[in-house]
Amino acid sequence: MEEKKKDLLRRLTIISIPFVFVAIPSIVIIVGMLSPHAAEPRDQSSPPAPGRNHSVSMLSTMTGGQMILSCRAAFSGNWEYFHYFILDPYKPQRAFFQPPPPPPSNSGAGAGGEQPYAILCKWGYMGNFLQDVVVFNSSAGYAPRCRVEEGGCHYLFEDGKMFLVTGRPGATTRAAPERRREKTLVGDVVLRECAHVLGVFPTVCRYKPHQHHYVGKIIGRWRWWFNY
Ligand SMILES: *[C@@H]1O[C@H](CO)[C@@H](O)[C@H](O)[C@H]1NC(C)=O
Ligand SMILES: *[C@@H]1O[C@H](CO)[C@@H](O)[C@H](O)[C@H]1NC(C)=O
Repeated sequence: MEEKKKDLLRRLTIISIPFVFVAIPSIVIIVGMLSPHAAEPRDQSSPPAPGRNHSVSMLSTMTGGQMILSCRAAFSGNWEYFHYFILDPYKPQRAFFQPPPPPPSNSGAGAGGEQPYAILCKWGYMGNFLQDVVVFNSSAGYAPRCRVEEGGCHYLFEDGKMFLVTGRPGATTRAAPERRREKTLVGDVVLRECAHVLGVFPTVCRYKPHQHHYVGKIIGRWRWWFNY
């Protein structure tokens, strides 16, 4: 009986090897290869107007492994691929984008005038997954600070928390008070802690206690790989 169980486990392990070491990395590589093109400006025909160039950058100081953010841009009920961040600890990555300009003023677009534009990401780290993590929202107060000349928006993942850092380092507060460095908490990321029971059976995991709301919606591994 014990022998049979071990044998079954061994077989399952062998079956899963090609999947874990071939199928999943292939998907990562393919998506990763596509992402530089996806990050290209949406209409290359015209350079963005001054002040249109925005950036978001990501930095993880969590050393358990790579953190992945697969991001898309959502606008006018539609979406398109934006960028795939693969973050090694302490190695920041930055991506540029140009939200669509406001419609011509004679169109009577109503309050705000701008077409809402948001960037949402799927987040993954050590088998924990979230979706709809918003890293840019043209309607949010911080949006102007994501402009390149304002220093861009920087997201920091630290100790299970996500922070937004804006402003330029070392900007003199008297000359440009709005460019002051500011760090605000966005929320917590989901983390589990797992206990190995007897070393044979799949580990027993539970969500770690957390203090703030999660920055996105918890999803499972399958949803992460195959869905937006
Ligand atoms: C946005 O700014 C970055 C950094 O200054 C620059 O490398 C990039 O070419 C700019 N993108 C566009 C479309 O102007
Ligand atoms: C963007 O911000 C606006 C205003 O706060 C909010 O109504 C909207 O739901 C936000 N969009 C996303 C995708 O979070």
